[in-house]
Amino acid sequence: MATAIVILAAGQGSRMASELPKVMHKVAGVSLLGHAMHCAARIEAEKTVIVVGHQGEQVSALAKSIDPDVETVLQKDQNGTGDAVLHAAESLRDFDGDVIVLYGDTPLVQPETLQTMLDCRAKGHDIVVLGFEAQPPGGYGRLVMQNDVLKEIVEAADASETQRAISFCNSGVVCASAKTLFLLLDSVAKQNTGGEVYLTDIVKIANSRGLACTAITCAESETLGVNTRADLAKAEAAFQSGARAEAMQNGVTMTSPETVFLALDTVLGRDVTIEPNVFFGPGVTVENNVEIRANSHLEGCHISNGAIIGPFARLRLGAEIGGNARVGNFVEIKASQIDQDAKIGHLAYVGDAHIGAETNIGAGVIFCNYDGVSKHKSVIGKGAFIGSNTAIVSPVHIGDEALVGSGSVITKDVPADALAIARARQETKAGMGKRLMDRLRNLKAKK
Ligand code: UD1
Ligand code: MG
Repeated sequence: MATAIVILAAGQGSRMASELPKVMHKVAGVSLLGHAMHCAARIEAEKTVIVVGHQGEQVSALAKSIDPDVETVLQKDQNGTGDAVLHAAESLRDFDGDVIVLYGDTPLVQPETLQTMLDCRAKGHDIVVLGFEAQPPGGYGRLVMQNDVLKEIVEAADASETQRAISFCNSGVVCASAKTLFLLLDSVAKQNTGGEVYLTDIVKIANSRGLACTAITCAESETLGVNTRADLAKAEAAFQSGARAEAMQNGVTMTSPETVFLALDTVLGRDVTIEPNVFFGPGVTVENNVEIRANSHLEGCHISNGAIIGPFARLRLGAEIGGNARVGNFVEIKASQIDQDAKIGHLAYVGDAHIGAETNIGAGVIFCNYDGVSKHKSVIGKGAFIGSNTAIVSPVHIGDEALVGSGSVITKDVPADALAIARARQETKAGMGKRLMDRLRNLKAKK
């Protein structure tokens, strides 16, 4: 059965105290909306419709930047979760399949959980709601169950004392066929002219029409909704502990897991070792047997088998590190390919460059890739040796097995096998050092 996802993201999120729309705040390097969209992509939803409202243009632009195929619809006035879903009806008019409603501010729902809901639907339940045990249940809607039948969802504010004592709560995630969902919502809207249209009210009406409603359970952490910055921090912590545990389960060693921060899309191979205080921004893939030493910061980069990174390394967007290469302390690499077995051991900046296999980049080498207006690329061949404290003024080409003397400022190409030295020639004057020092000491003594 085909599946569509409707993500509700129209809310103002005023408790975030932010100029940024709530669903654009990030957890694990990705916006809250991006998490919900990622989840939709993982269950291979055929269609994703996002209901936007407050700062809708910004939210739409973000959604399209993540997936140009998503549809966004504007809910001008926030008249309730049911009204929001109804705004997606037009986009799903011809859709003959199941719809899952997700909230844009609930980033931790797992695709496996949605799959369980779809499986439950396939077994003949007309409406499947995702519930969780909350202690205490607080302001959540309560799921009123009778054996396996979900009879109704009662909002905390409308609940009787007995209902308020129920700890089985509504996450907000609902699954039904498009046809059933919109038929029921139309009825809710008709009954509720003027007031808010609650998505949750479809359950009671469905029961009155003899439809089968049920709820499945997930962990409370999955349904964590973000309303405040404190919630955002909670969601981050919950994401991180899950991601670390999964990485370790898949064969990653973390000496101090609680100090390692992963992104939603971080890919780590087997037998990768990560020392304390390592940060992964978005877009990092790491092959097997890589060692990432303490205090390194990585984003948008790829690290091949057996490479050793850090301590204190910074890999930025477009850093491609080859097999068994070494990137040592206080080395920053951006938009550069480092071929296998190359070594960049200490205190270097490599930007917009290609470093050939087995080449050694000495301490303090800087690629001057920016002339103040444009970026330029330099290429260093295989097996070359760039002496310490050299400035490579891009664009230049340095051939295979070339040698550059330390302290050089290289502005011209160096052919293969050549030696280039570009610095003032050393002058040595016999006895002059001591004479100069004696004179200075005498001057000081006379003062
Ligand atoms: C909702 C549920 C409640 C559940 C809780 C879980 C209803 C009536 N209540 O309550 O049972 O326990 O979520 O967190 O559904 N939104 C729109 N347009 C609107 C209203 C809301 O897009 O007109 C979006 C919000 O941006 C948000 C989501 O829908 O992403 C949920 O809305 P919210 O107001 O937070 O609902 P709750 O009161 O938390
Ligand atoms: Mg809420």
